[in-house]
Amino acid sequence: MAETLLDVRHEPKARAYELVQAAFDQVMGDTDDAVTAMATMSALLHHGFGFLWTGFYRVVAPDLLRVGPYQGTLGCLDIRFGRGVCGTAAAERRAMIVPDVNEFPGHIACDARSRSEIVVPAFGAGGELVAVLDVDSERANTFDTEDQAGLERLVTWFAHAQARRG
Ligand code: SME
Repeated sequence: MAETLLDVRHEPKARAYELVQAAFDQVMGDTDDAVTAMATMSALLHHGFGFLWTGFYRVVAPDLLRVGPYQGTLGCLDIRFGRGVCGTAAAERRAMIVPDVNEFPGHIACDARSRSEIVVPAFGAGGELVAVLDVDSERANTFDTEDQAGLERLVTWFAHAQARRG
């Protein structure tokens, strides 16, 4: 276990995500538990990058997301598919990058300081949606396709873990 807090804020983005991925892999080892993975990813990303809110909404019914492990201020509990950025990403099964949340119709403001947001879907081994990873920033235009690639790689853990379980 690393003794010091991982801080990747001064790294180029691609390298920053490599470092977070390596730390995640090291911390998780063979641990085969989705809640542990969500908590570990949230903590490493949140403190590593200094985000405003970082965490998971899990699919708990065919069209319902419910908050899971996260770091930040109190998150909304339930989000219907199709609502807000998270619900849209879930309904459309694709990543959403929102440069300015004020320009996104239906954005759900759990924390009024949020200015930009990225949401990536996490799939299981059979391609089913298991959760979305939501990251919010206090600054506009924080996220781009490098963040998407880094986050999408992290959440492949869920498919790989399910495949290992068989
Ligand atoms: N902003 C999100 C809701 C979740 S919170 O920000 C933690 C959305 O519009 O889906």
